[in-house]
Amino acid sequence: MRKKVLVTHQVPGERIHELAQHCEMNVWMGPGLLPASTLAEELVGCQGLLCLLTDRIDRTLLDSMPDLEFVSSMSVGVDHIDVAALTERGIAVGHTPGILVDTTADAAFALMLSAARRIVEADRYVRRGNWRAENAWSPEFFTGKDVSGATLGIVGLGAIGRAMASRAAGFGMRVLGWNRSPREVPGIESVSLDELLVASDFVSVHVALTGDTVNLLDADKISLMKTGAVLVNTARGGIVDEQALAQALGSGALYAAGIDVFAQEPVAMDNPLLALPNVVVAPHIGSATTLTRTQMADIAADNALAAIVGDPMPYCVNPEVQ
Ligand code: GLV
Repeated sequence: MRKKVLVTHQVPGERIHELAQHCEMNVWMGPGLLPASTLAEELVGCQGLLCLLTDRIDRTLLDSMPDLEFVSSMSVGVDHIDVAALTERGIAVGHTPGILVDTTADAAFALMLSAARRIVEADRYVRRGNWRAENAWSPEFFTGKDVSGATLGIVGLGAIGRAMASRAAGFGMRVLGWNRSPREVPGIESVSLDELLVASDFVSVHVALTGDTVNLLDADKISLMKTGAVLVNTARGGIVDEQALAQALGSGALYAAGIDVFAQEPVAMDNPLLALPNVVVAPHIGSATTLTRTQMADIAADNALAAIVGDPMPYCVNPEVQ
């Protein structure tokens, strides 16, 4: 009997068509994202799920899905999935590491440059008609902060953190790095998290969101940051205390921030970070290039296909169940 697989969104790429030939596939066609209640209805009787990071897979959902055999997420992060609960049930979880490393590091670097050089603020200034003769080029007009030659602190030395370091090398930056399990990486000075926060002009967050990293950059840690520093977060919102960050940015303790990820997504319009001119925001687009999203979809489909035919998933978060 062909296995039933729910795909929670239309995805790009070719491999999804290959997957369709090996199972009874039900693709949510929208509009918009699949609501949690509909996910629970549509998943009943399915052996497989190909989901996005916007789908929450928790114990309550799993308790009513006795047939589920695998979950393949089109994301590298799996904080939307209760991996321990799936592992207990022998359900394999696939994800898409590797392929989005450079794209996400590019986005982090772009946010860092934009925040430092006030690019978005300047864009708004021009479009609003404020660039007039009485308000034009002058010695201090739109002055920002130098990236070249500054010190970058990288929180989390996984593949994306290391890709950030190689970009920083091209800008002549000194690079400090902190990793939960200490890691020696050529070109990166390994320091404690506190030392990194005290010494860095720019801090970029690249850890996964886990029980150990929730609120890693809380009010105390943020208060250690160098006066006038810039924080960039393309990892996950829950890692940084948004209220404390907004306060530090509003008081001038920090110079600016570039934020692609929020504790609640889509972000609420009353989030204090949105009220600050020195914050460049983006709607969780770190991996958003056409090529990378296509490759992520292909890997997610390959993980699902492997699970269907009884092979180990190429990229499995809990390989012990395979
Ligand atoms: C993006 O945030 C991902 O986890 O793939």
